[in-house]
Amino acid sequence: MRRSISAVAVAGLLTALIVTGSGTAVATSAASPLLPSPPMGWNSWNRFACDIDERLVRQTADALVSTGMRDAGYTHVNLDDCWMARERDAGGRLVPDPQKFPSGMRALADHVHERGLKFGIYSSAGTATCAGYPASLDHEEVDARSFAEWGVDYLKYDNCHNEGRPAASRYAKMGQALRATGRPIVFSICEWGDQRPWEGWGAEVGGHLWRTTHDIRDTWASWTDLLDQQVGLEGYSGPDRWNDPDMLEVGNGGMLDHEYRAHFSLWALLNAPLIAGNDLRAVSGATKQILLNRALIAVNQDWGGKQGHRVRDDGEQEVWAKPMSDGSVAVVLFNRGPGTVDIAANAAEVGLSAAGRYRVLDLWSGREDTTAGELRAPVPAYSVVAQRIWPA
Ligand code: GLA
Repeated sequence: MRRSISAVAVAGLLTALIVTGSGTAVATSAASPLLPSPPMGWNSWNRFACDIDERLVRQTADALVSTGMRDAGYTHVNLDDCWMARERDAGGRLVPDPQKFPSGMRALADHVHERGLKFGIYSSAGTATCAGYPASLDHEEVDARSFAEWGVDYLKYDNCHNEGRPAASRYAKMGQALRATGRPIVFSICEWGDQRPWEGWGAEVGGHLWRTTHDIRDTWASWTDLLDQQVGLEGYSGPDRWNDPDMLEVGNGGMLDHEYRAHFSLWALLNAPLIAGNDLRAVSGATKQILLNRALIAVNQDWGGKQGHRVRDDGEQEVWAKPMSDGSVAVVLFNRGPGTVDIAANAAEVGLSAAGRYRVLDLWSGREDTTAGELRAPVPAYSVVAQRIWPA
């Protein structure tokens, strides 16, 4: 029996074990996924990089509650790089930087949990993190045990200083170590897509999501370049195996509000993690309105878990669509060019079933309309029109 259990664990299957009358363990696929929809929350990196401490995390957790973001689904509070002290302790354990985190990680996780939120942390499948702090390669078990003891719910596991060792086995070791703790911990593979984790090994090592690209920056050129790299990956994602084109830059100041609306709309449509990366303690009304767009959050979190895809590329104008589990389709008409342009598509092309009429909801203005099948809207420069369409 012991052998059956470890074989299942090694394979990294998210399955339940049922011990039958004869005492043999069999795997079932009845276990519910840890991440039935893409993760939503906040991460420290995009805005704060190494300038982090426990006060920031506490205040951010409080802000997630006071802004209404927690209740809209943003529940993960994730620390990124630079939380560690420069040296492990005498027992070989990672220690939080005593200046930045004087109360320790358990107390911080408690603060986060008391607010109905989840606590995430970061390490690298290398000898050091990208910023040069101690990391978890060859320390997987001791580190996973520390994370579980602290109450960590989510591990982002980076790829720096990996000594050229094969990705799948480096990530498998941490996946195994996390499962061995017995605590459900989301395993976020941050391997930048180099070895195409979506093709199989990401899920096999127990990953629940994986980066498909290198890092986002707070520019139009950056997020649209990442967007282009998502074309063709839609078939590989679903519950507990999300493609991750990196975190949101909404509200970080490098783009205009309509550009952030475009970024947010397409990340929602791609079933990307909606991990805010801005300062939530000082968030503008416009930024809040973007992050709290419930209609787009509903598109992202749809229980069917089908990732949206590009249905047409006319150069600077594109049409993206995502099938929703209620038979509707979410559509983003995307204008990447410098002037207002009418973008048109038809119901069949975006995957809607044939009907005499369709109901159209504009996901930014809330305006409702009907159409006989043609979808057409003037789309301003560097903007989107996002709609959800139901066969009537
Ligand atoms: C890598 C990751 C980023 C971030 C930094 C931290 O670049 O891809 O998301 O975690 O490391 O150093």
